[in-house]
Amino acid sequence: MNNLSVDHLIGIKGLSKEDIELIFTTADSFKQVINRPIKKVPSLRDVTIANLFFENSTRTRLSFELAEKRLSADVVNFSAASSSVKKGETLIDTVNNILAMKVDLVVMRHPNPGAAKFLSERIGAKVVNAGDGTHEHPTQALLDAYSIREKLGEDFKGKKVVIVGDIKHSRVALSNIFCLQKLGAEVMVCGPTTLIPKHIKELGVKVEHDLRKALEWCDVANMLRIQLERQDIQFFPSLREYSMLFGLDKKLLDSLDKKIIVMHPGPINRGVEISSDVADSDQSIILDQVENGVAIRMAVIYLLASKINR
Ligand code: CP
Repeated sequence: MNNLSVDHLIGIKGLSKEDIELIFTTADSFKQVINRPIKKVPSLRDVTIANLFFENSTRTRLSFELAEKRLSADVVNFSAASSSVKKGETLIDTVNNILAMKVDLVVMRHPNPGAAKFLSERIGAKVVNAGDGTHEHPTQALLDAYSIREKLGEDFKGKKVVIVGDIKHSRVALSNIFCLQKLGAEVMVCGPTTLIPKHIKELGVKVEHDLRKALEWCDVANMLRIQLERQDIQFFPSLREYSMLFGLDKKLLDSLDKKIIVMHPGPINRGVEISSDVADSDQSIILDQVENGVAIRMAVIYLLASKINR
């Protein structure tokens, strides 16, 4: 298979295992490119990409822009904070104006779940979801799984991954669950009862509320940030108490009888969900995830761009 089964990347839910594997093998080639002295290929010289960010981002935004430039695409960046959205312009009007400037592919982050799908059904350009509210963050899950593959090998069967923290508000958790399960891994979620969705077991994941037990079970722990900006009520008494029960520190990590891999999608709240000495330890692959993000996004954009009629 050398083509994706989808025309847009809205979520991992819509991808097949073969799609994910194709993205990984394409990313393998691009990872070689970005580690060469000349980190650029001319593949997308005739493609124009707009990065539309209606919500804050550091890693995803930089990573997409870098990926696009490494592929030699023309890139325009849009930030809602400094745009006419502030004057009342709607999403579709904003996008139509950008498309009138002959854009081929749109990468969008938006606070509303479903925004990327809405857009893909209304415009001619290809759409990549860079995170839509609490729904999905597909390229994050792809780069996370790709980073696990790099450490533990291509066969995910029997690999055990625990996602710890604010599962309820996390698009990263949902995309990771879909991605890891499609690849054959076992997934557990761990956190306070109030931050675990009631029906999550229906997705086929295990649920654990004791962090030590979860860590003893897993090969990989993906530590998530508490998304205070999406919480309208208080889900736990204090960050200090959360950290005592669900924060990963070096003492706990070293007390396990095996060496697990520690991941975090960022941004990290050091001292809350993860201590500094764990984030910076040799078991942490947090910066590998960031590096792999560029290769994965190059692969996604390259594969979707090959479907543009030109
Ligand atoms: N992991 C992630 O999405 O980070 P940003 O919010 O900084 O893009």
